[in-house]
Amino acid sequence: MLRNDQLDQWDRENFFHPSTHLAEFARGNLPNRVVTGGSGCHIEDREGNRLLDAFAGLYCVNVGYGRQDISDAIAAQAKELAYYHSYVGHGTEASITLAKMILDRAPSNMSKVYFGLGGSDANETNIKLVWYYNNILGRPEKKKIISRWRGYHGSGLMTGSLTGLELFHKKFDLPLTQVIHTEAPYYYRRPDLDMSEEAFTTHCVAELEALIEREGADTIAAFIGEPVLGTGGIVPPPAGYWAAIQAVLKKHDILLIADEVVTGFGRLGTMFGSDHYGIEADIITIAKGLTSAYAPLSGSIVSDKVWKVLEDGTDENGPIGHGWTYSAHPIGAAAGVANLKLIDELNLVQNAGEVGGYLNATMTAALAEHANVGEIRGEGMLCAVEFVQDKGSRSFFDASEKVGPRIAAALLEHGVIGRAMPQGDILGFAPPFCLTKEEADEVVGKTVKAVTAVLG
Ligand SMILES: Cc1ncc(COP(=O)(O)O)c(C=O)c1O
Repeated sequence: MLRNDQLDQWDRENFFHPSTHLAEFARGNLPNRVVTGGSGCHIEDREGNRLLDAFAGLYCVNVGYGRQDISDAIAAQAKELAYYHSYVGHGTEASITLAKMILDRAPSNMSKVYFGLGGSDANETNIKLVWYYNNILGRPEKKKIISRWRGYHGSGLMTGSLTGLELFHKKFDLPLTQVIHTEAPYYYRRPDLDMSEEAFTTHCVAELEALIEREGADTIAAFIGEPVLGTGGIVPPPAGYWAAIQAVLKKHDILLIADEVVTGFGRLGTMFGSDHYGIEADIITIAKGLTSAYAPLSGSIVSDKVWKVLEDGTDENGPIGHGWTYSAHPIGAAAGVANLKLIDELNLVQNAGEVGGYLNATMTAALAEHANVGEIRGEGMLCAVEFVQDKGSRSFFDASEKVGPRIAAALLEHGVIGRAMPQGDILGFAPPFCLTKEEADEVVGKTVKAVTAVLG
């Protein structure tokens, strides 16, 4: 419950919260929550609530809350050396070690890692690298980037453009002209209900080829995609999608950026989503699970093919004109090293696959027959329930009914955090990898109660 004390007032008067209805928050119509602690899969707030966080923050606290190993590593690094930059060959033991640990885990064609702070800035870096790459190769016209509708790649100027969700464009003068969007690989929302999954893949590929044809392959630099669509609805791709898309990209000499901000470091039950789907990317974006969000850190993992061009390019052009003050921040790097060690020690990638599979299976068993549940889908420790007004005709609720947000709110009343995904009535789950089967049962049981409370 809201408490009309100073903190609440200061919050509403001073704090500009992201992704928030600003006017409703200022009026006091939206509750705030002051989070005070966390342990395992639970967070606690100042009102004394203990909530099962089945979205791991923003699918990022992959090892769970309250891990002493990581906080000790952060404290030790802060005490020894809180900061030094990484320009012109500088580094710390933590940042160099972490780069090595990432490359040891990444697909074998990867060569180097550039460190940033969050997923958005990593994708901004990626697009700059792709442009730089084509300029060095003498292809100044090859610059457009293809992204998918419903993709999520951040909310900067370029990355907000790559993101294929209307809310992130509206009134922001986005997308920028260099970004073009193609069909979302979203089988449940296929244009023709009679299409098989394979036929839908063929349709997505045909859409991509038509777009390349229209724009001209010599104007297109790269394609960016998440192995599994995340914020756009938690949607695993249709059968054969990644193999078919990669064949088209190769044919037209278009680079592939795999945005693994959500899927990197274990969420699908494999170290990378690229391993899971046989994606051979030219650049991989990482963030979130790199430190399990104990400190901000992201990365752009660059393949041998791209690296060779960049390296050769500096002989001609001088040092690469790109860098952030906080690139490879020692505290983030120390958190990353401790986090990746912990993931190995506790076998968390395997647990994400096993318990994630259990969560998806039990959610399906509990809710698939409900008249308003159109689809339950997931992969590894990702799960989504999509609600429809009518199952047979696959008609959706009007957005103004806020069915998804109401179900998420009802679930919260039962002490479980799920996420009403921003476009469509979709309840998303992305728990920490340490979720137990008992906790998965609790998530499912309480989801059933929440759905029944809102939809009967
Ligand atoms: C796939 C993907 N890429 C990029 C981002 C942006 O990351 P950040 O919010 O750290 O800038 C996100 C954030 O949710 C994401 O899910």
